[in-house]
Amino acid sequence: MGWRRVLFFIMALALVCVASACKNVTETVEPVLPTKLSEKEMPDDDKIKIGFSMDTLEEERWLRDRDLFKAAVEALGAEVEIKAANGDDSEQILQAEKLISEGVDLLVVVPHNAEATAAIVNKAHLAGIRVISYDRLVKNSDIDLYVSFDNEKVGELQAEAITKLVPKGKYVYIGGADTDNNAHLLKKGVFNVLQPLIDKGDITVVYDQWTKNWLPENAFANMEAALAANNNQIDAVIAANDATAGKVIEALEKQGLAGKIPVAGQDAELMAAQRIVQGTQTMTVYKPIKTLAQEVAELAVRMAKGKYIDTDRKVNNGKTEVPSVLLAPIAVDKENMDETVIRDGFHTREDVYR
Ligand code: BGC
Repeated sequence: MGWRRVLFFIMALALVCVASACKNVTETVEPVLPTKLSEKEMPDDDKIKIGFSMDTLEEERWLRDRDLFKAAVEALGAEVEIKAANGDDSEQILQAEKLISEGVDLLVVVPHNAEATAAIVNKAHLAGIRVISYDRLVKNSDIDLYVSFDNEKVGELQAEAITKLVPKGKYVYIGGADTDNNAHLLKKGVFNVLQPLIDKGDITVVYDQWTKNWLPENAFANMEAALAANNNQIDAVIAANDATAGKVIEALEKQGLAGKIPVAGQDAELMAAQRIVQGTQTMTVYKPIKTLAQEVAELAVRMAKGKYIDTDRKVNNGKTEVPSVLLAPIAVDKENMDETVIRDGFHTREDVYR
């Protein structure tokens, strides 16, 4: 063999290796789908049925999610069956099993418990049904897609707003439910901003507790405990959502401190927007639920028709790199209330400034 042919042979071999290495990388980052799923192909005219398994309808936002998701799925010519589990893990699993046995084409889950709901994903996959995590991530499972807001960013927006007002002092952190992955992301975001100030000695976190099951009465008890333990000497409060922030403010009111201590929340609930313009809550974080509901509805219908969805962004859920879509949250205070939640039609001007 002449040297030219040897060189050509080596180059060809190298090219084959590079190509197959690239292919492997692509393949390994893709979630592994049960064979039954990847083979599934639906005729386009078949009516798709989506199952929506929700944790709760407790907060204002979840009613909105339910209604907007239903409308978005129906606008795409598909139907949706919705069940809410009232914060009960076994109830959520039973309800999901019912949806699976009724033969839904795809399941969308808002998990109450990030770990327990992995059982739903396994059961759905055994039945050849793909599962999308809506707003909250199902952990340690082969969940097919995760669509949410950037929850770490939500926490950062809260802490940035509050540290601007209170660069030094005693902080209270009222977290979400520790069974909800979002609560951990929110807290991470808050501490991304607080930690350098804690390290400098400017800020001390004098109280930091989860709110069991996100129940506002638990946040109230935590805030009362924080005030009592610190002789009311608190300079700022960051609460994981508006429902808990509302109870924080109630506890502050009892001590004559409402409106004197900055409080952050999230969700842009109507009552929070009202408290912001009245001055007892400093800020909230607005997450355009309509965009989330529409995005999930579109992806759910495409997936139910057997299309494979991949995304640039991946989030590790403890078992796999989950293809993810993370939407941008928006910080809202009394300065930008009109050009955010009101302009978007999330709340009317009359309702906010009643
Ligand atoms: C959601 C928040 C909500 C909270 C309590 C979180 O996972 O992201 O918007 O307020 O759950 O339901």
